[in-house]
Amino acid sequence: MSDTLRPRAALRTAVVWEVLQDALERRAKATGRPALDVLDTGGGSGNFAVPVARLGHRVTVVDPSPNALFALERRAAEADVADRVRGVQGDAHGLFDVVERGGYDVVLCHGVLEYVEDPAEGVRNTVAALRPEGVLSLLAAGLGGAVFSRALAGHFKEARQALDDPNGRWGAGDPVPRRFTADQLSGLVEGAGLRVGAVHGVRVFADFVPGGLVDTEPGALDALLKLEAAAAELAAFHSVATQLHVLGEAPAAEGA
Ligand SMILES: C[S@@+](CC[C@H](N)C(=O)[O-])C[C@H]1O[C@@H](n2cnc3c(N)ncnc32)[C@H](O)[C@@H]1O
Repeated sequence: MSDTLRPRAALRTAVVWEVLQDALERRAKATGRPALDVLDTGGGSGNFAVPVARLGHRVTVVDPSPNALFALERRAAEADVADRVRGVQGDAHGLFDVVERGGYDVVLCHGVLEYVEDPAEGVRNTVAALRPEGVLSLLAAGLGGAVFSRALAGHFKEARQALDDPNGRWGAGDPVPRRFTADQLSGLVEGAGLRVGAVHGVRVFADFVPGGLVDTEPGALDALLKLEAAAAELAAFHSVATQLHVLGEAPAAEGA
């Protein structure tokens, strides 16, 4: 995906995309089915759903926003994958009103947990949509990244407030209702019965680097992407990442 995106967008998604692509490949190999059934909860206009469909998988996007679903339909048609992308209006809480329980090889929940009323229930529902040995790709806003960015922008009181606030919000004007630590996200995934396969920090440096530097300096984007990829793996950087990605693996079927 990164070669077709603008540099800034590539920086935002590269780490998650690499981890996700690898998980899809491993699942396809393990199941012996090259076309997997993928569910994207809160998939919006298809930032991940469309590239996943371009790999040949069948993707169902559940999202409460009719506008996002309309944009998804248009985007899927433009990418020539309309036959593999299905948009359904619904939300994480009433997920099984609109999709099949236990019907998916891989479930994405990217940038959604921040907005749902009950994150634990949201994660339990995404997990209940998985087949045995299925994989959950969970991406959510990181607490430490927000504290760090408010402080570096000179908003020290807001940084302190985010640090003290149980939901990691820096004030009434904060557009994000909830942020998480890596431990909290891992706890939600394990609490829903999955094994945590990997945790990655996303956008550790990217949001702080002046745009001009990445866009004009030869080789800078590539070097920054490599730096992000290396730091993503290290727990020390998880505490300052803008987003956190957790890969959860469902157990095998009983008696398997
Ligand atoms: C920040 S966007 C992320 C979109 C996409 N997952 C991505 O990574 O680009 C959040 C999405 O979550 C959706 N959303 C908000 N509340 C939700 C809920 N309770 N259940 C499912 N999706 C929800 C929004 O409509 C929006 O499309």
